[in-house]
Amino acid sequence: MILNVYEQKKPFYLYTGRGPSSEAMHMGHLIPFIFTKWLQDTFDVPLVIQLTDDEKFLWKDLTLEQTNHLAFENAKDIIACGFDVEKTFIFSDLDFLTNSPAFYRTICRIQKLVTYNQVKGIFGFTDSDSIGKISFPAIQAAPSFSCMFPEIFNGRSDIPCLIPCAIDQDPYFRMTRDVAPRMGCLKPALIHSTFFPALQGAQTKMSASDPNSSIFVTDTDEEIKDKINKYAFSGGGATVEEHKTKGGNCEVDVSYQYLTFFMEDDQRLEEIRMAYTSGELMTGSLKKELIDILQKMVGEHRQRREAVTDEVVRQFMKPRKLKYDYPAL
Ligand code: TRP
Repeated sequence: MILNVYEQKKPFYLYTGRGPSSEAMHMGHLIPFIFTKWLQDTFDVPLVIQLTDDEKFLWKDLTLEQTNHLAFENAKDIIACGFDVEKTFIFSDLDFLTNSPAFYRTICRIQKLVTYNQVKGIFGFTDSDSIGKISFPAIQAAPSFSCMFPEIFNGRSDIPCLIPCAIDQDPYFRMTRDVAPRMGCLKPALIHSTFFPALQGAQTKMSASDPNSSIFVTDTDEEIKDKINKYAFSGGGATVEEHKTKGGNCEVDVSYQYLTFFMEDDQRLEEIRMAYTSGELMTGSLKKELIDILQKMVGEHRQRREAVTDEVVRQFMKPRKLKYDYPAL
């Protein structure tokens, strides 16, 4: 379907987002954005990024001022992924909702079509959840419809939307796809990034409050090296002897798993997989490969992040026409 759109140069736009609940962003948070940046470059289409400061106010023990500030700070890390200011609109719900009639109207149209019974089934809300939480899904659904952005799309309501996101956001968009035809709108298409494990292994969770569970964009070269060496779960043998005879297990080895995300050279990755599986490549050398790549990536991110001033963020957050070249329009 995407290739078809690509070949025919049919218009579409990208929509993704982030819930700003903490200043600390780790590599797991960046993956959907790195992927989105690739999509934007490859298809040359406009992108909207929703920062749900309202959501995090409703769900977490944070004030409106705090989540709104976090949205602004997180926007800097998102911008540092390399998005094109001419093709990207980033908005905070708290800010944009107060000056966009089209946003609130789209929300109302969605709210009218979803019952309490439905959101209870989809999100597991109970009688003690606040009504803020219960109505929030309509706010995350709205940017899936181009009519929400008259500034960008000249009031066109028929531009299809592609949403790159992590699998945990799927319930929002199953709800969105369900209401779309009844609103006379197009269903958004979804593309999910694969699961990015915590350093301790696939069964454990990455947490912004546990610095050892992942690599953060603020980590120094030294911290990256120490964390990978100390905490990255190894699928290697318990001893050198055992590793050499039995080989390593790439399926559970977190360093190898991370390389599948960050190593650009697929052929080199396959060589590493074979050498590690046969026991020829030691865990220390595998980790070294990853440490080098991560130090470079995080270092470059740090430099780009420093260049993102408040003024740059304000440019991305200004509602405006974006640059796109749709032959059909
Ligand atoms: N709810 C998401 C989160 O907590 C943020 C979000 C809003 C989002 N809109 C989105 C994520 C669209 C992916 C796609 O992170």
